[in-house]
Amino acid sequence: MSDRPGKKSGRGYLEVALTIPLQHEEIVSDFIIEEVAFGLVTEDLDGELVRIVCYVPQDNNPGEKIEKIKRYLFLMEILPQDLIDEHIRTKNIKEIDWINEYQKGFKPVVIDDLAIKTPWDKTEFPEKRIIVIEPKMAFGTGKHETTQLCLRAIKKELVPGMKILDLGTGSGILSIYAAMLGASEILGLDIDPEAVPNAMENAETNNVSDIFAARTGSMEQVDKNNYYDMIISNLIYEGIVRLFDDFLNALKPGGKMILSGILDEQESQLTDFIKAKASFEIEIMQQNEWLCYILRT
Ligand SMILES: C[S@@+](CC[C@H](N)C(=O)[O-])C[C@H]1O[C@@H](n2cnc3c(N)ncnc32)[C@H](O)[C@@H]1O
Repeated sequence: MSDRPGKKSGRGYLEVALTIPLQHEEIVSDFIIEEVAFGLVTEDLDGELVRIVCYVPQDNNPGEKIEKIKRYLFLMEILPQDLIDEHIRTKNIKEIDWINEYQKGFKPVVIDDLAIKTPWDKTEFPEKRIIVIEPKMAFGTGKHETTQLCLRAIKKELVPGMKILDLGTGSGILSIYAAMLGASEILGLDIDPEAVPNAMENAETNNVSDIFAARTGSMEQVDKNNYYDMIISNLIYEGIVRLFDDFLNALKPGGKMILSGILDEQESQLTDFIKAKASFEIEIMQQNEWLCYILRT
């Protein structure tokens, strides 16, 4: 599999330059560093746009990585689909050895008593629960703060036997952890069709495919008579606000929500929005500039 560490680039690398609105700089930079490429440089263009430059080894499927970036820009509503191509420029750069940077990219992630690693990583974590994630096109290797906050919130809130909806499942990482902690049934949904096979593959690898099923789509896939004890969604602020009424309709009385992907500067806006919609006890967890909301009824 092409993503494995330990390779030297024999044919140089591809420089990828993206131009995106300044307000999305942080989330896109995080995504690129953690999921796609190395050597990120950002440059403020005019106070409204930012250029992000990164490098993908030529022998690491640069075409696939660019598709991954494009899909992310579209799915996270950073650029409209018809404008994405003109906001991405690529250039071949001469040979360089990327091995060290590459290995750094896929080191295991340890979060409290949980370790997340790739299938080829031989590191042992005798005292920890282990999730194995095959890094592919889908988001969710455990490196991003928003994922880590959700994992911590799940550990805190999950009661064995709960029925769970994971909206924006990506690699399936959150569902897999919920299954390991005793959830009885989990539906994972994602609008990215590439995410679903990756999530199901990861479910098999982690022996939870009897509990966790992933499907392509969003809240329209949720049966109107099907209610959940817990809804988990790691999207972005705009996505959460847009889907919030659907979440309320799918939540069992007494149910909980875990909502992540929110920046600290969006806190008062989101808190006011939630309070206007329903009466929840709200707890906010924070890691760096990222927030995760736990809503309890
Ligand atoms: C930030 S990733 C989260 C992945 C994983 N759950 C995690 O926590 O690491 C957000 C995911 O939500 C998906 N997504 C974005 N908008 C969505 C929507 N309206 N309905 C379903 N999935 C959506 C994206 O395709 C992406 O896989």
